[in-house]
Amino acid sequence: MDATVYLDTHAHVGTIDRRIFGGFLEHLGRAVYQGVYDPESPLADGQGLRRDVITALARLEMPCVRYPGGNFVSAYDWKQGIGPKQTRPRRPDFAWQSIETNEFGTDEFMRWCGELKTRPMLAVNLGTGSVSAAGELVEYCNMSGGTLWSDQRRRNGHADPYGVELWCLGNEMDGPWQAGHVPAEVYAQRAAQAAKLMKGLDGTIKTIACGSSGRGIPTYMHWDRTVLEYGWDVIDYISAHRYSSNSEGSAHFLAEGVEIDRILADYRGLLDFVRGLKRSDKKVYVSFDEWNVWYRATGMSGNWEVAPHLLEEVYNLEDALVCAQYLMSFLRHADLVKVACIAQIVNVIAPILTRRDGLLIQSIFYPFEIISRLARGNSLIPMVDSPVYQAGSRGDVAVCDAAVSFEVESQKLAIFVANRNLHADLTVQIKIADRIITGILQSRAIGGGDIKRCNTWECPTAVEPVAAECGLAGGHLQIKIPAPGFCAVQVATSRR
Ligand code: AHR
Repeated sequence: MDATVYLDTHAHVGTIDRRIFGGFLEHLGRAVYQGVYDPESPLADGQGLRRDVITALARLEMPCVRYPGGNFVSAYDWKQGIGPKQTRPRRPDFAWQSIETNEFGTDEFMRWCGELKTRPMLAVNLGTGSVSAAGELVEYCNMSGGTLWSDQRRRNGHADPYGVELWCLGNEMDGPWQAGHVPAEVYAQRAAQAAKLMKGLDGTIKTIACGSSGRGIPTYMHWDRTVLEYGWDVIDYISAHRYSSNSEGSAHFLAEGVEIDRILADYRGLLDFVRGLKRSDKKVYVSFDEWNVWYRATGMSGNWEVAPHLLEEVYNLEDALVCAQYLMSFLRHADLVKVACIAQIVNVIAPILTRRDGLLIQSIFYPFEIISRLARGNSLIPMVDSPVYQAGSRGDVAVCDAAVSFEVESQKLAIFVANRNLHADLTVQIKIADRIITGILQSRAIGGGDIKRCNTWECPTAVEPVAAECGLAGGHLQIKIPAPGFCAVQVATSRR
């Protein structure tokens, strides 16, 4: 099978915001305890932070990590997670029916972010929590001193403010499962009040209002419209969430990018509509701050244990190909999606699994690592001429999915292409109207073979990238993508 991707480096949607390569860490299962923090592990440092986890996550070059939830945050009292550890209370966690020891809290998270060289993105509790407690967290984190909570931070050993820029106004407040779930009108008022107070304390912060938690939820878009109409002036981003499930078989699943594109089209339309209603010049963007494949490990109860095994999804090759499509869609919508967080990062629906003495890299780690490290500069508009295949109820879908970045300063172009077809390899020609490809700098490929194979503790390299099969022919780049598969190729270019 053959496809062609036509490009012109002048045709782009704007600069890629690196924050689309964010992560998400929730107090859930073994994500925090036994994941990033495990004083009993021989692999932890003096602060209890797992060094091997930091080293592995550093490969993903995440510019921000969202914390502390998720559903967890909607009944969390951040004040119980600061100060001397021996005085912190053990509390029941409503969301995951687990025990929260509060040994790891805001200050530990900030230290961990520093070690990982990432930026914190904090969510406040707008479920059971008050608007004033949300403001006090901004005071604790971002004010330099001379007030109750900023001085408390200093007393806790952190003289400098943390300067947290991104603030989520609650989590999935549209969901009936959420602690403190309320109708859209009530949340809209609560979120706008919180945003106003928080921005009043620190005018440099950016706020992310809860959008819909999924396209399947009955209030999808109505909820978002209400929230945006009410809080337009104090909201900077609206959140989108999606977890993909392989419910209709692989042909359908491998066309997930179609659904991501559709969700983003919905948000683009809504944001333009509300901007019109408001006669506003302001831009509100999308924060896609929970995304991943998740459909196997769905048990929600931790049986009131500390760090129970919850949501420990084991990922295979086709899951990795779906993750690649999420990121390719975010790249194509670089003018709309400014923040995105893979949910999550360790043990819980995550690219990394840990046990006390080791770490396992899952298949979904690789597309993230590859795209995060290569996508730089502008996101080009790829014109794709591709055969189609029958993707179940999605109908005819292009076999070839593509996204491309071009960095003007270095003149490097990176092309990301997926072959959604289960049966036939795909040869893709890349034709650039205004530039000559002068050399192939690096390439990576995953795919082919058994799509159900996964990395396991016994066989940790069942899914691993290799060099892509690619070359230059007649001045064009040609890439052969296995069935199904994903390739990334970075090339040097010069003016034509
Ligand atoms: O990431 C797991 C959970 O999924 C989060 O806590 C919640 O926000 C979503 O429903």
